[in-house]
Amino acid sequence: MIVDKLGRRFRNLRVSLTAACNYACTYCVPDGKRLMKAKNELPAMQLLKGVAMLQQAAGIDKLRITGGEPLVTPKFDDFLLGVMGLGLADVSLTTNGQLLPKKKAVIESSGLKRINVSLDTLNPLRFRQIARSGDLATVLAGIDAMLELGLKVKINMVPMRSQNLQEVVPMLDYCLERGIELRFIELMRMGHLQSGNGFVNDFVSMQALLDVIGEKYEFARTDAAYDSTAVRFQIPGMGVFGVIANESEPFCRACTRLRLSSDGFLYGCLSSASKHYIGDMLDQPSHLALPTLQKLLVSALADKKLAFQGEVTVMKFIGG
Ligand code: 5AD
Repeated sequence: MIVDKLGRRFRNLRVSLTAACNYACTYCVPDGKRLMKAKNELPAMQLLKGVAMLQQAAGIDKLRITGGEPLVTPKFDDFLLGVMGLGLADVSLTTNGQLLPKKKAVIESSGLKRINVSLDTLNPLRFRQIARSGDLATVLAGIDAMLELGLKVKINMVPMRSQNLQEVVPMLDYCLERGIELRFIELMRMGHLQSGNGFVNDFVSMQALLDVIGEKYEFARTDAAYDSTAVRFQIPGMGVFGVIANESEPFCRACTRLRLSSDGFLYGCLSSASKHYIGDMLDQPSHLALPTLQKLLVSALADKKLAFQGEVTVMKFIGG
């Protein structure tokens, strides 16, 4: 097992199936831009081989499927069905939900148990302003479809002062009614938000958010898994919500995440530009590939920072 001085090791793997996305959310891409596929994206079988090798070499036992938007790529079905057969302790999926109604059957047959849907508002017009594509009704139908299948659903919302702060309580109501855990993600200084006023104008701290929620609900801090990124709160008798407090309470010291991009690079830290190519190992027999992979993992683990410092490129094509 590869462990660093802080006792951190890789345990959670996030696999980006494609860098492409059918949305163009304001916090993710600059005006007028769209996310495209990466140049040399790997097929589902190669990505699955990569996952299997990382299970062996790094002790990965949790996996999240991300993008871009993972449901836009035709390899989604094969990857999902394949990954469910790898014996991981936990598999989940992060999606914007737009294609969920179409993917209900394959999700059902895969046996997937958990899903996170990114949703920033329940107002159809504001939805179009933030996502700059898609439509709210289809996403809500997708969420209903997942609840019908009995999946555990979480919703990710990025609160932004100028765009959806008034949506915080309605979103919480919606989630509490349905047994969905709402996760508020503090706006992160990613990509184009590193420059200009966008970040400063829109950032809502955990405390500011709790003040808004406190106007309607009483809540108390509750426990979270040791390597969880979320601070969790219980609303007695009603449910739980969480805050991913990247800025207010950074969680770098307990980070166990490793990222694999759709074009075959490992990233040890979201706040580092460093990446390590494994695409060329995926066709080699394991006894040749594993020693090289071990070395890359040591370097990737050394990329981990002590605090989130922002990053220029990674978020959008590696799905957070
Ligand atoms: N700040 C905070 N969250 C972000 N996400 C994407 N970009 C940002 C950002 N700049 C969120 C998406 C999705 C999750 C994977 O990351 O809304 O829910």
